Amino acid sequence: MVSKLITFHFTEYKRSKVTIVGVGQVGMACAISILQSNIADDVTLIDVMEEKVKGEVMDLQHGSLFLKTSKITAAKDYSDTANSRLCIITAGVRQKEGESRLNLVQRNVEVFKNIIPNLTKYSPNSILLVVSNPVDILTYVAWKLSGFPSHRVLGSGTNLDSARFRFLMGEKLKINSTSVHGYIIGEHGDSSVPVWSGANVAGVNLQSINPEMEQQDPDGWKEIHKKVVDSAYEVIKLKGYTSWAIGLSVSSLTQSILKNLRTVNPVSTLVKDMHGITENVFLSLPCILGSPGVCGVLRQPLQQRESEQLRKSAATLWSIQKDLKL
Ligand code: NAI
Ligand code: LAC
Repeated sequence: MVSKLITFHFTEYKRSKVTIVGVGQVGMACAISILQSNIADDVTLIDVMEEKVKGEVMDLQHGSLFLKTSKITAAKDYSDTANSRLCIITAGVRQKEGESRLNLVQRNVEVFKNIIPNLTKYSPNSILLVVSNPVDILTYVAWKLSGFPSHRVLGSGTNLDSARFRFLMGEKLKINSTSVHGYIIGEHGDSSVPVWSGANVAGVNLQSINPEMEQQDPDGWKEIHKKVVDSAYEVIKLKGYTSWAIGLSVSSLTQSILKNLRTVNPVSTLVKDMHGITENVFLSLPCILGSPGVCGVLRQPLQQRESEQLRKSAATLWSIQKDLKL
């Protein structure tokens, strides 16, 4: 019947296949955000829960009329993920109420031992974007297990923390967060570092207006960073998990990579030899993102206190990483 209706001439050539590993709350939020951004030709989902993948994919496919992604696939095994440009890893356990991200490490390392070799076997030239927590340590794990060059392995890092930071600063100033600039760097989570020295609106540096903003803090700016750190704990307490903001954040990173946009985003990258860090740890610094992955890292001038905080985060992560059995 099909051949009576159509004469096919070409085989498919895929430029932008994205695989998402894990179809839990985070994986599905990433999937819907990426699909709605029209940035991939093929979105393939995989999970150990085969029925769940099938169900999620069928549900998404039924929305194809309203999307512009020609192929949405439920992978039966990793061979279906072959030739991905980008593999996003969201699989693994998440925090329970009050639990820290670092507490998840050993359980999710075991999950990565299963996932990463399979991804790299079928997509040896892909970029790995790690989302599972603790994201900085798991990005290191993905780098080690894959054997990929470090520019092709990154973690979603503090792109989310920075979005929360800009949202909260924007609320305080009554300005849209897209017009409020500022970076949170370092560990995604508890020891993240707000770079107050660079926070600005239209190039007007907030710290230059009030040099004491961190010390005396009459306007409660410090409280904003505390709120950023507490954000996930609060959302998890209220709804059990976080999903929408990370999905949107990952979709924006995906767009930068697939479209070679060369945007600057704070993502988790290998920071050895930067800001006095001597170990192989992954932490977020402002990175230029494009089709090769991390195309460069900005040499952000930091105040002494900021770079000390960064080195402290690095030491905390290294103390956990060095004992991991990979
Ligand atoms: P979830 O429990 O809803 O989903 C996890 C999924 O992973 C499940 O579907 C499970 O079957 C799958 N999975 C487990 N082992 C697997 C394996 N070996 N291969 C393939 N799939 C496997 O959890 P949720 O809420 O989606 O969170 C996922 C991860 O993302 C957690 O580690 C969480 O902490 C992290 N997360 C990270 C954020 C970030 O900013 N980096 C933000 C929010 C969550
Ligand atoms: C977040 C996750 C839990 O939403 O890391 O920050």
